[in-house]
Amino acid sequence: MYRLVCVHCGAEYPPDAIVYNCEKCGHLLAVKYDLDKITITRKELNQRPISVWRYKEFLPVRIEPVTLQEGGTPLYHLKKIGEELGLPNLYAKHEGMNPSGSFKDRGMTLGVSMAKQLGKNIVACASTGNTSASMAVYAAKAGMPSVVLLPAGHVALGKVAQALMHGAKVISIRGNFDRALEMVHELCVSHGIYLLNSINPYRLEGQKTIGFEAVDQLGCVPDRIVLPVGNAGNISAVYKGLCEWRDVGFIDTLPMMTAIQAEGAMPVVNAIKGNLPEVVVEQNPETVASAIRIGAPVNAEKALRAIHETKGTAESVTDAEILAMQRDLARYEGIGVEPASAASVAGIRKLAEQGMLDPREKIVCVVTGHLLKDPETVIKQCAPPIEIDPTIEALLSVL
Ligand code: F0G
Repeated sequence: MYRLVCVHCGAEYPPDAIVYNCEKCGHLLAVKYDLDKITITRKELNQRPISVWRYKEFLPVRIEPVTLQEGGTPLYHLKKIGEELGLPNLYAKHEGMNPSGSFKDRGMTLGVSMAKQLGKNIVACASTGNTSASMAVYAAKAGMPSVVLLPAGHVALGKVAQALMHGAKVISIRGNFDRALEMVHELCVSHGIYLLNSINPYRLEGQKTIGFEAVDQLGCVPDRIVLPVGNAGNISAVYKGLCEWRDVGFIDTLPMMTAIQAEGAMPVVNAIKGNLPEVVVEQNPETVASAIRIGAPVNAEKALRAIHETKGTAESVTDAEILAMQRDLARYEGIGVEPASAASVAGIRKLAEQGMLDPREKIVCVVTGHLLKDPETVIKQCAPPIEIDPTIEALLSVL
């Protein structure tokens, strides 16, 4: 059993209420379970295939889910980068290996299943790209129309291609992501469309399974989990899930939650470093990591709590540091990720260089989306292919 609870004032709502903000104080809601009624053991869970749905007792879906086998992504040991940084226990969880190529699929299998469970038949979101791609995929699977609002000119090509091909109604607004989110929120509340941004409490329930899988794959709780942060939903979700596992006695420590943002869009980092009670919105966020080009993170309140309560930290990285790590992951580890995803590992490089990390730490960096999401940024960094006449002599002359 579960209900919705305001993360700020604790007001409660029934599970079938379609409400995104607390009617008393306006803050976001979270799903709260009667954890003492969950009787499954970790041993029983571990006998199931690793995927989002391995953890169904910790999820709110009560119907046959809309699924494309999301989750169960690889946890790679970053041997070479770890060696360079003096961190022998550095890992990357490659969320780009999900069906649509990003971690959003964990949220969308939940979000679209909940839309069905709640009797909603149109879904919508604003997006820097991945959320829209993923929603279009799962709406297609469910046979539901979907509407996406994108910041015009600031979404990577692969993501727009996915949203279009999977049949979403794609609308580009002449404004940034933060404005697109305000608009879609208003549209959904006034027109009864189901909103699948991370202010939807059910969507984040799927994303918390990243933390469960990291623990299961590593065989212990990592000392630190590092995430690239935009709207701050994912870091909040992973923390929430691990708190639930602590509360049912599956684990007895929590990882230091570590947020990495791009220097041009770093309201969470500023709040942590400045010890501010809340984030100060940035009006003109700018970064090559377009996925996290967000100035007004709606989940910041929860994210700040996650970082403070686990004695984690937040750090910013420049676009150059992000792109350098994108190349290093590709060339030294064989891991292809989009720029926002490289931010988590770039942040670890920076923290290691500042002497902020204990070399014994077991660190899991979440790399959130696949290299092919943003081919334009990749091509710009690489020399073009060498074109030659179709002869062996010409081939040998360039090798
Ligand atoms: N990494 C990637 C690749 C993303 O697409 C996002 C968010 C994040 C990290 C940050 O996650 O917002 O939960 O802090 N992308 C959203 C979108 C905003 O619309 O696709 P967050």
